[in-house]
Amino acid sequence: SKITLSVIKADVGGFVGHGSVHPDMLKNAEEILEQQGKELLVDFFVTNVGDDINLILTHKEGINSEKVHKLAWNTFLSCTEVAKSLKMYGAGQDLLSDAFSGNIKGMGPGIAEMEFEERPSEPVIIFMADKTEPGAWNLPLYKIFADPFNTIGLVIDPKMHSGFCFEVLDLVEDKKVTFSCPEELYDLLIFLGASNRYVVKSVYTKNKEIAAVSSTQKMNQMAGRYVGKDDPVLIVRCQSGLPAVGEVLEPFANPHLVTGWMRGSHYGPLIPVSQKQAVPTRFDGPPRAIAMGFQLANGRLIGPQDLFADVAFDRARQKALKAADYIRQMGPFEPHRLPLDEMEYTTMPQVMEKLKNRFK
Ligand code: F6R
Ligand code: MG
Ligand code: MG
Repeated sequence: SKITLSVIKADVGGFVGHGSVHPDMLKNAEEILEQQGKELLVDFFVTNVGDDINLILTHKEGINSEKVHKLAWNTFLSCTEVAKSLKMYGAGQDLLSDAFSGNIKGMGPGIAEMEFEERPSEPVIIFMADKTEPGAWNLPLYKIFADPFNTIGLVIDPKMHSGFCFEVLDLVEDKKVTFSCPEELYDLLIFLGASNRYVVKSVYTKNKEIAAVSSTQKMNQMAGRYVGKDDPVLIVRCQSGLPAVGEVLEPFANPHLVTGWMRGSHYGPLIPVSQKQAVPTRFDGPPRAIAMGFQLANGRLIGPQDLFADVAFDRARQKALKAADYIRQMGPFEPHRLPLDEMEYTTMPQVMEKLKNRFK
């Protein structure tokens, strides 16, 4: 029988500012899942990256299950109450709707989920990032599933040699397109390179087995603003015909620049860190990613193994910090600051209004 792995995340209050999640909120999430998920869930694990709570859930309900989504929603609602009582910053900020309406998509929380037949051994990695957005996974996903300089398995593993298919979502027009690689690599890259608009939703083997799913959603107009520019999660299955754990982690050894950071309005390096180090404070960042590894055992989450805690990622962290120092020197200038139309915060309309009679 098939198992479903759902990762559902929300920021329902930051400690301190937008830096982390208060331990009482995490404890509360565990209690709610324990009590209300008894019948529904096979297993669960709660963690946080920065100010985002991540619920990692296994169950038999398939993707888009109303029951599972509602349980996650209720968990976040309950954590919001804890956040409010402690006067956490931005309590309930990602719960954009007043009432649950059947599917958590488009209601604020981010979600990545996949259903599959559990293999004799099923290693999975859950990537979770804070202070960035779904396009952050484009470059690593390209390297993991299409770049032989990253993934030697594409060259020397007969089971991977035919390549993978990338399903890409156009966030603006809400359309999907699938590229078969390596045949359509160059077509794929023209889109993936524009990672604020085109984002990888999922990756499949050529036999249509699911390999990776991200929390990418169409941009929803909620609360009077575009959301979907949200701290993302990504699930990747590994080994025996899929990329090895080390091939999946390898792109993060060379930190790339992503959008997000302070006020969601800057470029900065994505630092791979241990879960303990996932407290972005310098200029509210820099953006960071954690990688939690699990072995599934009949749906049980055996783990986690905190994969970026490895000393072999120390130099990636040093490199990212150097890049952070370098790019921070530019202050409010592009390309550190995002272009006008991509910033989450802007004073431009007010400044323009004030000065409108002075523009000649
Ligand atoms: C970025 C982020 C923070 C806030 C910043 C200002 O994703 O969460 O950088 O944008 O701390 O927050 P407010 O406007 O809530 O004071
Ligand atoms: Mg926040
Ligand atoms: Mg966040």
